[in-house]
Amino acid sequence: MLKDQDRIFTNLYGMNDRSLAGAQKRGHWDGTAGILANGRDWIIEQVKASGLRGRGGAGFPTGLKWSFMPKESDGRPAYLVINADESEPATCKDREIMRHDPHTLVEGALIAGFAMGAVAAYIYIRGEYIREKEALQAAIDEAYEAGLIGRNACKSGYDFDIYLHHGAGAYICGEETALIESLEGKKGMPRMKPPFPAGAGLYGCPTTVNNVESIAVVPTILRRGPEWFASFGRPNNAGTKLMALTGHVNTPCVFEEEMSLSVREIIEKHGGGIRGGWDNLKAIIPGGASCPVLPKSALEDAIFDFDWMRENKSSFGTGCMIVMDNSVDVVKAIWRLSSFFKHESCGQCTPCREGTGWMMRVMERLVTGDAEIEEIDMLLDVTKQVEGHTICALGDAAAWPIQGLIRHFRDEIEDRIKAKQTGRVTAAYAAE
Ligand code: NAI
Ligand code: SF4
Repeated sequence: MLKDQDRIFTNLYGMNDRSLAGAQKRGHWDGTAGILANGRDWIIEQVKASGLRGRGGAGFPTGLKWSFMPKESDGRPAYLVINADESEPATCKDREIMRHDPHTLVEGALIAGFAMGAVAAYIYIRGEYIREKEALQAAIDEAYEAGLIGRNACKSGYDFDIYLHHGAGAYICGEETALIESLEGKKGMPRMKPPFPAGAGLYGCPTTVNNVESIAVVPTILRRGPEWFASFGRPNNAGTKLMALTGHVNTPCVFEEEMSLSVREIIEKHGGGIRGGWDNLKAIIPGGASCPVLPKSALEDAIFDFDWMRENKSSFGTGCMIVMDNSVDVVKAIWRLSSFFKHESCGQCTPCREGTGWMMRVMERLVTGDAEIEEIDMLLDVTKQVEGHTICALGDAAAWPIQGLIRHFRDEIEDRIKAKQTGRVTAAYAAE
């Protein structure tokens, strides 16, 4: 369990002063010029050694991603883009950073931008995050005023600007290339990859897109050392992490914890246990809508990290867990996610545009019990036609929850179809 002194985010609940003076009192902006003086390569090597993996959901190694940026300029400016378009259902961890600890992000942006040779950072913040935008803008303004960013940032000789861009509420703009399109003033539609943004990103220039938390933890990692960060969690799953619990726990919350604790420890320590006790647990969705559901039977020894979740056919995602007790109609819950993905599809590629609607409509028939038993396998087959055949990960994200449902709750789906066929039901089975 993480000790208080090992927390990176010391103002997660807004109990302290979030201004520059308050942040400095809590150790932020301490020795930043000295960190920059160590040079670009040193910073990237330290981040690599820490084992930090992207905190936005995909878990790509952060230091490795930075190393894809060109070492020498070919005349094009390079950019850091920070993805603050946090829109994953049940994920609200970056929000707390921007609300209450915004200087961790501003300082992190400076250091990360320097390490990748960027001239500026663009922070793309979710449209609904109005208070967070205000808090972050205030922190950026304070940093400019104190000479920490802008011309000759921290008296380092390095010029670095930070621009805050307010999104307009489209989930797909959290996909990194759709975000770049949106920043350029176009419709937020994902681009084909490759090229990855490091080759051709914002305005066709070398760009790295990182999640808010991935950037905000960097200054503390550099001050305390990569070994300190790597000492938390299992190998390949290093560090402390902002996580959240929502749903049927006694105390839903956002918290910082070390990686690789058990799911049960996380729920009991931070969530105050399941409503009605552990035996009343039905399932979890580990870290976002795209992560396949896991039933209680799979969770007794479950470890809450990237590798365990992948090995058990789910995904750690953002680490913001949805907990469902036995009162939940899990078929209906997954149908609800299907309708979400259908709504958020940008419609650009056929398997996603048509597939998300098709999957949602079959899911609706599973909810009402009006489907035939054979349609379960047909639906599974369609998810496999969508998965891996689309421009961006939204297609996969729409397919995976359904695959998880069929893998773990096929009996429940069959029961309701049979119940409908034999006239045993039921007003309760309604998709609404
Ligand atoms: P991805 O795995 O395609 O890419 C992750 C990152 O690694 C990207 O920045 C990508 O450019 C980079 N990358 C991957 N392979 C590379 C290569 N060969 N060379 C250079 N760079 C490479 O995943 P993606 O589409 O960026 O994110 C999907 C995840 O996002 C999902 O797992 C989901 O959990 C999460 N998500 C989070 C949301 C949130 O609100 N935090 C919202 C929606 C999805
Ligand atoms: Fe758009 Fe869906 Fe294709 Fe992504 S997968 S580009 S959201 S249509």
